[in-house]
Amino acid sequence: MLSRRQFFQLSSSWALSPLIGHAACEDGLSQFRSGSTAEEVTSGIDLTGKTALVTGVNSGIGYETMRVLALRGAHVIGTARTQEKGRMACDSVEGMTTPLVLELSDFGSVVECADSVSKMGMPIDMLICNAGAIFSELRQINGIEAHFVVNYLGHFILVNRLLERVISAPQGRIVIVGSRAHQSAPSDGIQFNDLSGTTWFNRQTAYGHSKLANGLHSLELSRRLKDTRATSNVIHPGVVQTNIARDLPHWQQLAFRLYGYLFLKDLQEGAATTSYVATHENLIDVNGCYFADSNPITSDENMQDEQMASRLWDVSESLTSDYLA
Ligand SMILES: NC(=O)c1ccc[n+]([C@@H]2O[C@H](COP(=O)([O-])OP(=O)(O)OC[C@H]3O[C@@H](n4cnc5c(N)ncnc54)[C@H](OP(=O)(O)O)[C@@H]3O)[C@@H](O)[C@H]2O)c1
Repeated sequence: MLSRRQFFQLSSSWALSPLIGHAACEDGLSQFRSGSTAEEVTSGIDLTGKTALVTGVNSGIGYETMRVLALRGAHVIGTARTQEKGRMACDSVEGMTTPLVLELSDFGSVVECADSVSKMGMPIDMLICNAGAIFSELRQINGIEAHFVVNYLGHFILVNRLLERVISAPQGRIVIVGSRAHQSAPSDGIQFNDLSGTTWFNRQTAYGHSKLANGLHSLELSRRLKDTRATSNVIHPGVVQTNIARDLPHWQQLAFRLYGYLFLKDLQEGAATTSYVATHENLIDVNGCYFADSNPITSDENMQDEQMASRLWDVSESLTSDYLA
């Protein structure tokens, strides 16, 4: 276990800002490191009787997260964009899993998915907003930039509709898979005046913008959950060898694969921080924090901007009002 001084040293080596978002974040310190795997960080943890919902389980980090949570005894509801992809992923892991369809760019699909979960009737102990995409060109969905819709707004609706289920769990946890790429968002943060992306789109900026939205979503959720037993935290999984680059030009995909093979985290390592934050007893009271390599880290000023988080919540509510519970 790191001492408080070591924690601040570690934080400042990542540091984007000298501030730490939440006093209790350091309670989430662990001995785990960048090379720790999801199996290692959950070793000895019995999740029997608990339910996890993981989005995007047919590929990458989501698949490994589902596999390991199910291995530890949880019932994992795993979402994929088609029934077939979800069923294949669920059938290929040991343990109790249930596939559900979720297409985050289609808010009707998000509502159907949340309603199916609600009908199952149990509390949700772990709600893991993992699914995400990178688009190489500007795309808009109902006039809104597509990264913002898929990576953030769809999950905003899902969490909203399932929040009571999380709150009703003995210690419900929301884990939002963000990214250090939030640093590539525009320097003034969320582009409230042009969510279409038309005036500012480039791939990195738009992906970073959606990941900043993920971080602010968790921050505002943590404030709203303050008087409950439930928590919300955001994580950066590391740079992981997955299918996330699939929409990039071929040569960039090849470069990503080659670089990944040599230097990036593998899936077992890539799912560790999500799994740690979703399950470890260190985190029972840890709320509103930012994690990487299974340890809390400092985040930059935009990620800690409570006013921006609150405004984002209000704007998201009005954009999705027809789909909220
Ligand atoms: N890999 C990295 O280096 C890295 C770094 C930082 C953060 N992340 C984050 O980690 C998360 C998982 O990504 P990954 O790296 O594991 O990538 P991945 O292998 O491409 O998995 C992404 C998952 O999200 C699903 N998804 C994509 N678009 C969707 C949509 N419109 N509706 C519903 N589901 C959708 C995908 O389904 P399909 O297969 O059907 O498209 C897939 O199941 C993402 O949030 C990503 O931003 C990744």
